[in-house]
This record gives sequence, C-alpha cells and structure tokens, in this order.
Amino acid sequence: MKRVADMDLFFEKYMGNLFRRIIEEGNRKDIKVVVEFAPGFRAKGAYALREIGFVGTVYIIDINKKVLEYVEELYKLVLPDSEIIGLNYSLGDCIKYLPAEIDIFLTNHPLDDMIIFEYLGDKSDNAFNNDEKSKEFLYKAWDEILASSDLNKFKRNVIREWKQFIDNISIGMFILSQYKSAYYSNSDNMIEDYVKLVFLELREIIGFDENLIKSALEDVDPLLDDEFKVSDNIQNSENWIVIQNV
Ligand SMILES: C[S@@+](CC[C@H](N)C(=O)[O-])C[C@H]1O[C@@H](n2cnc3c(N)ncnc32)[C@H](O)[C@@H]1O
Repeated sequence: MKRVADMDLFFEKYMGNLFRRIIEEGNRKDIKVVVEFAPGFRAKGAYALREIGFVGTVYIIDINKKVLEYVEELYKLVLPDSEIIGLNYSLGDCIKYLPAEIDIFLTNHPLDDMIIFEYLGDKSDNAFNNDEKSKEFLYKAWDEILASSDLNKFKRNVIREWKQFIDNISIGMFILSQYKSAYYSNSDNMIEDYVKLVFLELREIIGFDENLIKSALEDVDPLLDDEFKVSDNIQNSENWIVIQNV
C-alpha cells in the first residue's frame, strides 16, 4: 500500500494525538463502537484509537468509494484486532447501517468538503487528489460556489444532513474539528468565512463543552507552530465541537 509522505504522516499522527487527548479527557468507560466520518485518504482516527488501546468496531463513512477502499485497508493495519466496517454512503444515508447508539463519533475538518460535495456531487473526486490540478479544480469550484445564488442552499443541505444524523443516532461523545486549512492559505478568505458560518450553525445545534476541549488541547506541544500556527488555529478550542451525550 502506497502511504503518504513523511510530513503528512507526521501531521496525521499529531492530529491523532489531539483526538486521543480529547477522548481521554471525556473519561468514557468501555468504548466499543466508534464512527469516523469523512477520513479522506487519512488515518487520524485510527492513530487516536490505537493510542487509547481501543479494540472494538469502527464504522468509517465516506461517499468516495476509492477513499473507503483505501482507508479500510489502512485502518485494518493500524487496528488489527478491531472490526472495520466501511460505509460508502453520505452522512444522511448511512444511518440505517449504524447501531442506534455509538460511543464515539469523530471527524476531522469535514465541512468544507461536504459543501464541495453538495456542489460537485460525484465530480468532487477530482478535487481531492492532493496535486496541482486538483487544487485548481477545487479553487475554481469555490469561486463558483461563492458566486452562486444557491449559496444558502448548500449550507442548508449540509446542516440538514447533520441534523438527520444526530436526531437518529445516540452519541456518547461527539468530536469535530474545523480549523483554518493550510490548503486555502493562498486563496480567498471568503472560503473560510463561509465554512465558519456552517461550523457556527452546527455548533449552535449540537452544543459544545468548552472546558473539556480546552483542557484536552492545552499543554500539547504545538510541534508545527511555525508553519501552521497550530496554537491559534488547530489547538484553539473555538475551532472544535466536542460534547458528550448527544
Ligand atoms: C478530504 S476529507 C476531509 C479531511 C480529512 N478528514 C482529513 O483529516 O484529512 C473529505 C472527505 O469527505 C467526503 N465527503 C464529502 N461530503 C460527504 C458527505 N456528505 N457524506 C459522506 N462523505 C462525504 C469526501 O468523499 C472526502 O473523502
């Protein structure tokens, strides 16, 4: 299996460590069922679970079939004693394949990509290949989205999908990050402003436990500080939704 370059792997493990700390801060007993949403070609959730010694069932949801095939294999390598179940559905459509109660739901930086998927549908695969061509494709799509008269509709649909999910699944601990992306750093701030609106609306609906996030994120070495300003951004509790018993 072809894996990512060192810097990406380093970042994945760094993020995995933040998710691990948040899970531990929740102090939950007997974690058996975990759902990770929209991992992309990454294993941040798997690294977090390995670090807490998790053995159980992990459901991975991603609408992109290639992503799912890749991460299923990868998660089985990282968590060999766990059952890994890939669900190739959207967040709204996967509900009937999940248990009604799950211990942990986690997702890293999903909201911008959900909007892209709302706009591009199956063509969004072209936006996520991590090369220059995909970047151009993605920026062009954002220009179109931000100029579209359907701007509010995209946000509404994404929020509706989340509501559908949380109204039907009982979640022990909910963890979502949506920090500013290095990927958009050379682009228009409007992208981040729009994604932030979606984030804030979702946070209003789900709620959040600020103390829990803060104590989990403080005192972590901001290892990548120079490049990503992680203490102001990724390790900023303002960019996370963490809450128990949703
Ligand atoms: C690039 S990843 C997000 C970042 C990734 N979690 C990470 O940490 O690097 C986004 C994934 O979301 C998936 N996706 C987008 N909208 C979706 C939806 N509504 N339901 C399910 N998957 C979706 C895409 O297929 C893509 O693989």
